[in-house]
Order: sequence, then C-alpha cells, then structure tokens
Amino acid sequence: MATVTPNNPPFSAYRGADKGSFAWDSTVRRWPIILDNAIADLEKEVQQTTDDKARQEGKTILDAIADLKNEIAADRPLRLINDKEDDTDDWNRHLASYFAGATWFGGTWLFNECYMYRRLHENFSNSTCWKQYDPFNVQKLATFKGSHGSVFDLAHKMPTLIQPMTVEQLEIVYDELIQVCLWGNATDLSLLTNMTEEDIKRLQAIEKDKLAEQKKRILVDDIEKLWEKIKSLQGSRVDFILDNSGFEVYVDLILADWLLQSGKASKVVLNCKAIPWFVSDVMPKDVPILFDCCLDRTFFPDHENRSEDDFIALETMVKRWKSYVDDGKLIVREHKFWCSGLPYWYLKSEAPELFNDLRQSDLVIFKGDLNFRKLLFDCDWPVTTPFKTAIGKEMGTEFTNIVSLRTNKADTIAGLPEGLKEELEKTVTPLEWRCSGKYAVVEYNGCP
Ligand code: F6P
Ligand code: MG
Repeated sequence: MATVTPNNPPFSAYRGADKGSFAWDSTVRRWPIILDNAIADLEKEVQQTTDDKARQEGKTILDAIADLKNEIAADRPLRLINDKEDDTDDWNRHLASYFAGATWFGGTWLFNECYMYRRLHENFSNSTCWKQYDPFNVQKLATFKGSHGSVFDLAHKMPTLIQPMTVEQLEIVYDELIQVCLWGNATDLSLLTNMTEEDIKRLQAIEKDKLAEQKKRILVDDIEKLWEKIKSLQGSRVDFILDNSGFEVYVDLILADWLLQSGKASKVVLNCKAIPWFVSDVMPKDVPILFDCCLDRTFFPDHENRSEDDFIALETMVKRWKSYVDDGKLIVREHKFWCSGLPYWYLKSEAPELFNDLRQSDLVIFKGDLNFRKLLFDCDWPVTTPFKTAIGKEMGTEFTNIVSLRTNKADTIAGLPEGLKEELEKTVTPLEWRCSGKYAVVEYNGCP
C-alpha cells in the first residue's frame, strides 16, 4: 500500500477533478459564489471609505480576489503563500512536501478548500488598512438576525433547563440540548447557497416533537452512549472545537452554560479559527460580537414586537455568559492548526502542544462538517468503518473522549450500521443523505 500522505489518504480522496462529484460542484459553483460575495462585501466598504490609502489597498485586494477566481477556473497550480503570518511557513512546507504541482481541481478537495480561504486571507494580510478585516462579518450578522425566533425561545427556556434536577431529569434535558446543538450546525453560511429559509427554520426548531422527528435523520446515534460519559462528569473540562458563528455558536453556548450550571463542567474551552474561514466559522472576536448583538435591544429585526420579558430572558443569560468569560470558566482561544489544510491525523505531529493540551480535557466536542471531514482524513471510507478507526491511530487511541456532532454536508462518512446505506438509498439519493445538511451523525470514540 502506498504511503499515506495528505495528498494520498487511506482511501480515495475527494477531488474537484471528479466531474459531477460534490467536490467538483463546490469548485466550479460554490467557491465562485463565496468569492463573489466577499468581493461584493468589500466593494461596499471601499466605496464608503474616505481614507485614500484604504481605498487604494481595497481596490488591490478586489483585483486579487478576482484573479483568485480566475486561477481556480483555469485550474492553475497551487502556488506558495506569500505573506508573513505565523502559519505561512507551515502552509508552504505542506504545499512543497505534499502538493507540489497539484492544481485547483487536482489536489484534494479538503486541502484546496482550506487553501482557498488562506489565499483569500493573504490579500488582507498584506495590506495595512485591512489586516483584521473579515469579509464575511456582515453575512455572519445577517444570518444571526434571521435566527431571532429560536434565539428568544431558547433564552426563555434556559431557566427551566438549569434549575436543580435529578439525574433522570438531567438526562431528559441533555437529550434535548445535544440535539439542538447538533442541528445548529445545519445552518452554516457556506452551504446556504443550497438551503431554503423553510429548511433552515425547520432545522433550528427546538420543540420536542420536531426534535423527535429530526432524530430519525441521525444516522449514527451515540447520544445515549455519550450520556454515560457526561453523566459521570463532575467539575470537569470540556472543549468545543467550534464551527460556525451566529446561531450555531449560540446553541454551543447554551450547552456550555448547561454543563457549567449543572456542575458537570467547571471550565469550558471554546477553540476558534484564527482567520476568516469557510465563511461562517467562529473567530475569537465573534464571541463578544455575539454577546453585544444579544444585548442590543434593536439588533433583531422583530425587536419592536418583543416584550420586556423577552429582552430580560436573553440579557440575563448572556450576562451570565460574559461573567463566565470574566471568571475564566469560559475560555475563548484560537490556534493556527485549526486553519491548516491538513487532516487531524496530523494534530500530534503538527501541533504537539495543542494535542497534549486537549488530552487534558475530559470531553472534546468537534462541531460540524469540516471538523468531521478533517477527523476522518476526508476520504472515501467503506461506510461501515468504525469511527474510532477512521479518525486514525493517535486520535482513536490516545483520546477516548472525542465526539463529533455533525450534519452531513459532504460525502465523507464512516461508522454507519451494516445495511443502513442500502436501506436509505431505496428512498433518497446519496447526495441527499450525504451532502444536504438534512441528515446528521453523533459519533463518539469512547463507546465500549
Ligand atoms: O460541503 C459543503 C461545505 O461548505 C464544505 O465545504 C464544508 O465541509 C462544510 O460545508 C462547511 O460546513 P461546516 O460549517 O459544518 O463545517
Ligand atoms: Mg463552518
């Protein structure tokens, strides 16, 4: 068997070169839309600025993004990163060692997609006025505004979820919250190009009957097994490897709040992305922004119809979240490794200090599709391969506390029960159950 490398996974890699595949569709259709949206966002800013230097630099960045789009369409080779960030050398080492000569369609979809966001960032990084600019910020906020119904519903519910409870009652709350946290992942912005508003509303539903309906779409369901672990926790450390801002991180914070209030955790660590990433991913700055939005009584579009009770419910909860940050119970941090192009099979060798630090955690919750793809080396596993095997030897054996909460937005899958794929495909297409975001998995590597 050929040596496994980032460009040669244990099973076939997904590549944009496979015409008609989801990776191909992303490369030819979704990425240009994402870059066009970034261009439109920046154009507006450039038009509005009164600073000549910012205008000039903005125009240079706009041209460079347009060039990037053309480079992708022309299937040009991936070039080295040309800026002076902390991760520049790592990126160039990976490009030279594993992807020399690879092109936009020929390299792996995983590496290339990450590389696209890194190339986008390079343009801002090389400026002086736009260094910290997040071209997706406006989109992130707009989508969070659209989640107002579930935001207020959850805030109202929170006091009943964190009152003192018996173990049996705690389990009922856990069962609900873990699903809310799971489906919160369905609504990320890089996929919105495919989802209707109705789809999103349904996936953000928090009512019991709707969750029960949704549960049928959880194809690998380790929720009960995970409860055995969470039940045993007392004053522990829980890490979230976050995915998206807005509604998703809001529900992550709800779960974190419940873990802290129930005494299951005494510390929750939110691991964020270091640069604007896959449109909607959380950077450290997005957390205080979310707090401020929730505390601004005019932020949500239906604010005029909201009662004093609504505002108080949300404000009480968010002020508690802020106090967790102040008290060091909620830690918001970033690491460059989360924005590399490599699968998490390389976490130990590429970021040993992060690997060892995460091993101190009692539970590591990986949110979302991209984290799942990276855990599994983003390749075409036989679908019944156990999760523990697919996340690789180091993650699979040196950690016994990894859980992935992921709605399915890409082909990558493992851990399915025998026969399920065949059963599913009697009624739905592979594209629907693997990539639409309407099916999900909860996979836990601590299962006996
Ligand atoms: O497949 C669609 C997609 O945009 C992928 O590019 C990426 O893996 C994923 O969705 C992003 O989703 P998430 O925010 O759940 O990681
Ligand atoms: Mg994301």
